[in-house]
This record gives sequence, C-alpha cells and structure tokens, in this order.
Amino acid sequence: MVRPEVTPSEDLLALRADDLHKKFGAVTALAGVSFSIRTGEFVTLLGPSGCGKSTILRILAGIETPTRGAVAIGGKVVNDTERRILVPPERRDLSMVFQSYAVWPHMSVAANVAFPLRYRKVPRRQRRDRVTEALRAVRMESYVDRYPHQLSGGQQQRVAVARSIVGHPALLLLDEPLSNLDARLREDMRVELKRLHLELGLTMLYVTHDQSEALAMSDRILVMDHGLVLQEGTPEEVYRAPASLTVARFLGVKNIVAGRVAGDGTVEALGGSLRATLAEPMAPGAAAAVAIRPDGFALAADGAPGPAISGEIRLAQFLGGAYEHEIDTGGTTVIAQSPQRLGGRGDTVALSIDPEAVIAFPADDPAP
Ligand SMILES: Nc1ncnc2c1ncn2[C@@H]1O[C@H](COP(=O)(O)OP(=O)(O)O)[C@@H](O)[C@H]1O
Ligand SMILES: [Mg+2]
Repeated sequence: MVRPEVTPSEDLLALRADDLHKKFGAVTALAGVSFSIRTGEFVTLLGPSGCGKSTILRILAGIETPTRGAVAIGGKVVNDTERRILVPPERRDLSMVFQSYAVWPHMSVAANVAFPLRYRKVPRRQRRDRVTEALRAVRMESYVDRYPHQLSGGQQQRVAVARSIVGHPALLLLDEPLSNLDARLREDMRVELKRLHLELGLTMLYVTHDQSEALAMSDRILVMDHGLVLQEGTPEEVYRAPASLTVARFLGVKNIVAGRVAGDGTVEALGGSLRATLAEPMAPGAAAAVAIRPDGFALAADGAPGPAISGEIRLAQFLGGAYEHEIDTGGTTVIAQSPQRLGGRGDTVALSIDPEAVIAFPADDPAP
C-alpha cells in the first residue's frame, strides 16, 4: 500500500501540483504545470480564455483526471498518475465556486448552504450554527428563508460562496466567480471575497482572465498561456517586471513600440532616447520591442535634465481617478495615463517617461 507523503518542509503547503498534463484528444490543455500554495495564501491563475485554468481547478477538485501529474492537498497525495493514486472529489478537503452560481433553485438559502453539512452528516444543531456563521460571513443572514429566484445574481453568488465555506475547507477554489456580475457588483464582491479570505484565514485559489481582479486580490499571481505558467510572482512583480511581452500585454501594458537598443541602459524609441530596463542582455543596435506602461508618462519639467520625447495629444479623457491621453509621437500613438491632465487635443507636449515603466524585450519575442 502506498502511504501519503508528508514531509516537515511541506507543513505549510495547502496545495502542491506537480507537472500537470492534460490532453483532450489532440488538444493539449495543460503542458506541464507545477505550483504550490501556502496555507492562508490567496493565489490567482490569470490567463486568457482557453489557457487551461478551469482544467487545473477541475483536476484539483477531482472532477477531471490529469493525463500525467500529481496533486497533494494539505500534504496528502490525492492524485498521482504514476502511483495510480486517485482520491474521489468528496474525500478531498476543498470546495469550489463556479462562474454560474450553481445554487439549487428548489432549495431555500438555508438548505442550499446546509447541503454540504447534511452530506457529511453533521448534527442538526451544529449545522444550524454553521449555516448562520457562513451566511453572516457573506452578509446574507437575513435571507435564510428566501429561494434563489427571489435573489439577485450577486446575492445568489454570495449564497454559493457561503455554501463553499460552510464546511471550513482547507482550500477554496473559485473559477471566475465574478464574471457573470455587472461591473459595479463585481467590484463590491471583489472586496467581499478578499475580506473573507483575510477574516476567515481561507486558502484560496482564484481563477480569472481579468488582470485588474488578479492584481487587486492576490498574494501571488501565476500568469498562464497555452497550458503553461509563463510567470509567477506578487502582483507588483508581474506588473512591474513582466518576464515576456506576452505577460506584459496580458497585464494591460498597452504601449508596445518598436525600438533599438542604444547601450548604457537606453533605447531609441518614439523619436527619442529612453532610459529602460532590458528584459535580457541585448547588444547595442539590437531591435527591441519596448513595453511602456501607460502610468509612466509625465510632462517633462522645463529645463529638467534627461531625455524627453515630444508628441501631439489626440484625445484626452477623464476616467475619474486619472486622465488617459492618446498621444501621437511622430507616427506612433501611445496611451498615457496620469493623475493630472497632460493637455488638450492638438497640444504639443514634451514628455518624460519613468525608466521603471520602460522594459525592452528582444524584437523577435514570439507574439501571443
Ligand atoms: N471536456 C473537454 N473536451 C475537450 N476539450 C476541452 C475540454 N475541456 C477543456 N477543453 C479544452 O482545453 C483547453 C483549456 O480549457 P479550459 O481549462 O476550460 O480553459 P480556461 O478555463 O482557461 O478558459 C481549451 O482549448 C478547451 O477547449
Ligand atoms: Mg474556464
């Protein structure tokens, strides 16, 4: 008999996924994904539709089997294709929230939330207390007797979240739980989920294709594409130091312009010379694809030293928290965001660009 492995160094690991592969016929959904999650951590899988995010969650939950790979939850191996270990979903200490709310229409809110406890034969009294506690956590305690059709989409999703936490799972998986909600509600729920994570000390693996959600909520983000993890890091790390053009694009860097490495930490681009970070060593003269974060632009102070570029404002929009400008810099249009208005349509402006916001990649980096 194979005994589950627990090694002391893994005490704090809520999850470990090792070399997960998944093929659906000719389609490779996962091409070797490994990661771990520490207890209490909020980790996000961020990537475009079809990159394999849901497949990972389904494998972790045990409702899909990997073609190859291993999964351990709380130090206990629940799946290992080589050792032929496969623990069924109901014996894995986790729960999952789906994009579709998946609450049972014929059951009251209380019955929906109590369901996992009934299944586990938790005594009635204890069940009632746990249901109240879970509903209170999602601020739905006054809706216990309602039915799903009497609730808004956001409220139904709260019920689904309450049901997922009522059994105190060691790991909570959330698959794009906010994408069916309208923009305003999505922001409220984002804060609510983060609050739950912090207040209940939940370990969460969150899936989204929305970079702002990932940046706002996560302790750590795994950026995925085509069944692989491209980069892993804190929100600040992946945002400020994307490892590839694909990651930069996916994190919302709208400006990717052609340039040339000039040596000494500068690149020629946008008709000027910009101080930049080179993503990897590149020889002077090498063609570069230069990613410039929209928030890196500012008006160049009169007489200030250092390089500046010149451009004509084509469009200035007030976004509430910031202004967004479309600026033509001699044929290349860039998007510049700043807390202040840089000028109005038709104005010619001199701009400085924060060197930290400029990253040069080899020009032949494969496009996504
Ligand atoms: N049951 C299935 N049968 C065939 N192909 C599937 C199945 N599930 C997922 N896929 C394919 O696997 C890839 C990854 O899908 P998925 O994990 O759902 O991506 P994501 O959740 O990131 O949008 C896609 O190409 C998808 O079409
Ligand atoms: Mg999906």
